[in-house]
Amino acid sequence: MSSPVQYELQDNIGVITVDNPPVNALSQAVRQGLLDAITQATRDESDAVVIFCAGRTFIAGADIKEFGKPFKAPGLPDLLNTIEACPKPVIAALHGTALGGGFETALAAHYRCALPSAKVGLPEVKLGLLPGAGGTQRTPRLAGVKASLDLFVSGAPIPAGQAQGIGLIDKIIDGDLLDGALAWAKALVSENAPIRRSSEQAVPDYDPSIFDEYRRTLAKRARGQMAPGHIVSAVEAAATLPFDEGLAVERRLFMECMQSPQSAGMRHIFFAERQASKVDGLSKATPRRPVDSVGVIGGGTMGGGIAMSFANAGIPVTMIEISDEALQRGLSIVERNYAGSVKRGKISEEKAAACRGLISGSTDYAALADVDLVIEAVFEDPDLKKKIFTQLDAVCKPGAILATNTSYQDVDAIAAVTARPEDVIGMHFFSPAHIMKLLEVVRGEKTADDVLATVMALAKKIRKVAVVSGVCYGFIGNRMLRPYGKTTQLLLLEGASPQQVDSAMENWGMAMGPLRVFDLAGLDIGYKAREALSNEQKGDPKTYRVPDLLVEAGRLGQKSGSGFYVYDENRKPTPDPVVDEMIQKAAEELGIERREISDDEIVDRLVSALVDEGRKILEEGIAQRSSDIDVVYIYGYGFPASRGGPMFYADQQ
Ligand code: 3HC
Ligand code: NAI
Repeated sequence: MSSPVQYELQDNIGVITVDNPPVNALSQAVRQGLLDAITQATRDESDAVVIFCAGRTFIAGADIKEFGKPFKAPGLPDLLNTIEACPKPVIAALHGTALGGGFETALAAHYRCALPSAKVGLPEVKLGLLPGAGGTQRTPRLAGVKASLDLFVSGAPIPAGQAQGIGLIDKIIDGDLLDGALAWAKALVSENAPIRRSSEQAVPDYDPSIFDEYRRTLAKRARGQMAPGHIVSAVEAAATLPFDEGLAVERRLFMECMQSPQSAGMRHIFFAERQASKVDGLSKATPRRPVDSVGVIGGGTMGGGIAMSFANAGIPVTMIEISDEALQRGLSIVERNYAGSVKRGKISEEKAAACRGLISGSTDYAALADVDLVIEAVFEDPDLKKKIFTQLDAVCKPGAILATNTSYQDVDAIAAVTARPEDVIGMHFFSPAHIMKLLEVVRGEKTADDVLATVMALAKKIRKVAVVSGVCYGFIGNRMLRPYGKTTQLLLLEGASPQQVDSAMENWGMAMGPLRVFDLAGLDIGYKAREALSNEQKGDPKTYRVPDLLVEAGRLGQKSGSGFYVYDENRKPTPDPVVDEMIQKAAEELGIERREISDDEIVDRLVSALVDEGRKILEEGIAQRSSDIDVVYIYGYGFPASRGGPMFYADQQ
């Protein structure tokens, strides 16, 4: 088999080219190829060496598929030490995304140049890891302690220009990267430029209290996660120990992370997210419909955020509301959200203005005559939705995709009121829709393949993680939430307090405990939904007695200032003895003897409730695969990524 790494001499410069599609990951064959090439370059008549990559990107990291499998030499840290030890100037030429082990390779080179469009970063923390091939030791020597910690702990890539500003890139090359890198290599040779090994540089001065400060912040922000704390320790080692000793500390901490269940969970999610975008039985060649304009019906909680998601991707949106007043209200929420993003430094004022400019409004459905896609986000009322789809069928052009953001309703029944059910699909966004990453794409019985393929591709364009769901009440995510909610109510009646349930789940890693979630969503929503059901459909009264009592006492959750908790003006929850009494009384009336319940039992029963429903969803073919369910829970419901999602967690148990 030919090597994915080629070496050739061009005018006395040794050019090492890595060509390992799709992202030039550092597989064993690439590591071996790099070692062979640098060994050859060290021995031949070359004056300098350029490391360059074919395809869409410089090396995007270690090969994650090899993690957890038996190790095969050469190891990356040793390879990078060999590259750094080369007695001739080594220049890394970066384009695309130089990430993780890829950027560590560049840091082991003596000089780094990049296209202005390149991005660099050390995203290992997102896989529950730390940079493990010298990155934690070389970066602080070039960029200082603070910038390095920020880079490693956030895991977010930065543009080449910014990297140049902090000393991680030496030169930006406009035009052809390889030509530019070769010309620069020749110039360095003719200037007799020194060989600059980052390992030999001293860490710039820093405030030694930074490490404890960082640890304090992480104790809150990354509670229970191993990698962020280990990152701080590795950088502290870089700042206080000789390079070789620091490297040994980095290796030990890296291996601890690699062997942790946290990293296993996060690696699972990395591949699960990518797998979720693939639809079984749908060929890659399925044609896609162009989507250059979008209509959103309803400018409420969801409509505004949905409109922003498209505008942020440069797609113009027409928002339809019921009256001028409602339209102005919807548009002003959008306005406020953009102003908030500017204030928090998330986007520039110019970008916000440009996006805002892409959203227009109307109260006339005729404004939707030419759009390529319409997303309905009006009240959760099946008759209203059907009425709107009848109207859409009348006004929209042939081939327009008609989507509903319904949380629970039957997408097939909505499609059936149109003469074009093949163009109808569910696009279930999560609140706030311009921020939450998840999009459940609900495939109706008659949804056409090209409609599904178009929506899956569009999801990527608007930076959402899409998961396909079949039609059922609540689709994947909300359907699983029902048994989770019911079990929460049983736990309260059997002896746990709201704050015990919430803190048990939050300490385990959930972003928010279930009762705080219900208070946030509004207890009246479930109450109203139950009113429409027969006693039989409602099920065991134990599973809804307490929320019914709360709503009847005017406690609707955050919106009314109290629910399971009382809220102050900053929405801070405080436990309320009145609620405890209410629970106690309900338990007595329902004949339940209360007892001590452990945190472990709470976690066990609540996670099992999710997993049991997840299994049914799989068996019924509502979800394509178990890992899709994990993606839904991580990106839509605040399930901890370090647990890998409910189904992965259950498999591990
Ligand atoms: N290893 C193995 N496969 C990888 C990979 C990696 N590091 N990075 C991406 N891939 C695969 C994906 O699984 C996907 O495969 P598929 O087509 O079969 O589904 C394919 O490459 C394309 O990936 P994306 O769909 O994500 O493509 P994008 O263009 O959207 O994004 C990217 C490209 C920004 C490079 C993104 O893939 C990414 O962020 N990759 C991970 C980068 C990373 O985490 N690197 C650090 C690894 S850990 C490390 O280096 C440890 C070291 O410190 C020792
Ligand atoms: P909302 O009540 O905040 O907004 C609905 C908007 O639709 C209102 O502004 C209303 O004036 C408008 N509207 C009503 N009839 C209309 C018509 N005929 N034409 C045009 N506009 C009309 O509701 P929300 O929360 O935004 O929910 C909308 C949909 O999204 C529902 O189906 C809901 O189930 C779903 N959803 C809600 C989520 C949430 O967290 N709020 C999450 C995911 C989905």
